[in-house]
Amino acid sequence: MKSKAAVLWEVNSKWSVEDIELDAPMAGEVLVKLAASGLCHSDEHLVTGDMVLDPAMAEAYGLNQFPIIGGHEGAGEVVEVGPNVTTLSPGDHVVLSFIPACGRCPSCAIGQQHICDLGAFILAGKQITDFTARHHAADGTDLGIMCCTGTLEPFTVVSEASCIKIEDHIPLDKAALVGCGVTTGWGSAVYAADIRAGETVVVVGLGGVGMNAVQGARMAGASVIVAVDPVEFKRAQAPIFGATHTVATVEEAQALVGELTRGAMADKSILTVGVAYGDLVEPLLSLVKKGGRAVCTAVAPMSQTDVKLDLFMMAMMRKELVGCIFGNANPRRDIPRLLDDYMAGRLLLDELVTTTYALEDVNQGYEDMRNGVNIRGVVLH
Ligand SMILES: NC(=O)c1ccc[n+]([C@@H]2O[C@H](COP(=O)([O-])OP(=O)(O)OC[C@H]3O[C@@H](n4cnc5c(N)ncnc54)[C@H](O)[C@@H]3O)[C@@H](O)[C@H]2O)c1
Ligand SMILES: [Zn+2]
Ligand SMILES: [Zn+2]
Repeated sequence: MKSKAAVLWEVNSKWSVEDIELDAPMAGEVLVKLAASGLCHSDEHLVTGDMVLDPAMAEAYGLNQFPIIGGHEGAGEVVEVGPNVTTLSPGDHVVLSFIPACGRCPSCAIGQQHICDLGAFILAGKQITDFTARHHAADGTDLGIMCCTGTLEPFTVVSEASCIKIEDHIPLDKAALVGCGVTTGWGSAVYAADIRAGETVVVVGLGGVGMNAVQGARMAGASVIVAVDPVEFKRAQAPIFGATHTVATVEEAQALVGELTRGAMADKSILTVGVAYGDLVEPLLSLVKKGGRAVCTAVAPMSQTDVKLDLFMMAMMRKELVGCIFGNANPRRDIPRLLDDYMAGRLLLDELVTTTYALEDVNQGYEDMRNGVNIRGVVLH
C-alpha cells in the first residue's frame, strides 16, 4: 500500500517526510494503523550518531542502519494480520513496545522482558521475523524501522512480539507514551532504583523519561523527590508529577539534599538527562548515601567509554551504580497495568503532552525538544 513516513537517510540530517510503499504483513507480523507517536530523545541519538548499529552485527546479518523510519513510542489498531499470528486479530488495540517481548527467550522466561533476546536487533531496523524490510522508499530502497516499530508514520508492519494488546476504551494518543518514555521513567524509579516508602530521591533531567521517574518515585512512596533541570519550565511542571523540591543543577541538588538529610544524602538518584556523559556519573553517585543506589537510564554516545568515578568511595560506602533499559520492566505486564493506573487517575499522561504536531512538522517537534519547550511532544497521525 502507499503510505508516508519520516525517514532519516543519514546521520546529521533532517527527518524527511516522504511517500513510501508498505508491504502486507508476512508470517508473524501485523499491519498497525498508528494513532500517535511520542517524540522520545532516543530518535535524536540516531540523528547525532550517538547510537549506531554494531558494525560486527551489521556485517554478520547483512544489515544497514540507514535509511531508517523514526519513532518507537506509538499505539494504534491492528488492521491486518499475517499468517501464523496467534495472539492478535484485526480491530485489536495495541501499544508498540520498543523492545520486543518474545515470551520464550531465557530473559522473558524469568520476567525480564526488557532484555528479551530479540532486543539485540532493535537498531538493525529490519523485521525481526526474517531480517527483510516491509517498508520501501519511492525509489525502491529498503527502509529500516526504529526499534522494530517505526512509529513516525501512519501505518507500520511489525512483529507480533512488538505488540502489547490493550483495552479498546483507552485513548490511543495517550497510550502511545507508555510504549517508551512512561514505562522507562516509571520503571527507573520503581524497579531499577527500587524506591521504598519514605525514601529521598533525586531525578536529574526532566523530559518525557525523567518526569515519569518523578511520578514513579511518588507512586512508590518516596517522601522527598528533588527534581533537577536547568530549564525553568520543567522545574515549574515537576511538582504536578510529585516533585517536592526543584533545582537547576546537580551541584544545587547536592547542597539541598545535604541540608534536607543532615548530611546523610539521598537513598536513590536517577539520571535521565538528554545525553549521558561519563563526567555525570560521579556527581550522580555523590548524591546518594552509604548503601545508596544511582540509576543510569539516559543514553550515552556509544563511542564514549570513559567514566569519572571515585572507585574507592564507591566500594567503601557500598554504593550501587545500575543500568536501566525500558525501566527494567515487563512490557506485557507493566504496559496494561500502567494504563489501568492512568484510567483510574493514579498515573498522569495528559499532563505530559505539552504540544502535538502533524507528521510533516516532526523536525519542529525535535527542535522544540532540543530547546526544552516540551515535556513530551507528540505527533498525531
Ligand atoms: N534506557 C532506556 O531504556 C531509555 C529509554 C528511553 C529514553 N532513554 C534516554 O533517556 C534520556 C532522556 O530522554 P527524554 O526523552 O526524556 O529526553 P528529553 O530531551 O525530553 O529530556 C532531557 C531533559 O534533561 C535536561 N538536562 C539536560 N542536561 C541536564 C543536566 N546536566 N542536568 C539536569 N538536566 C539536564 C534537559 O533540559 C531536558 O529537560 C535520553 O538519553 C534518552 O535517549 C533511555
Ligand atoms: Zn524512547
Ligand atoms: Zn524474549
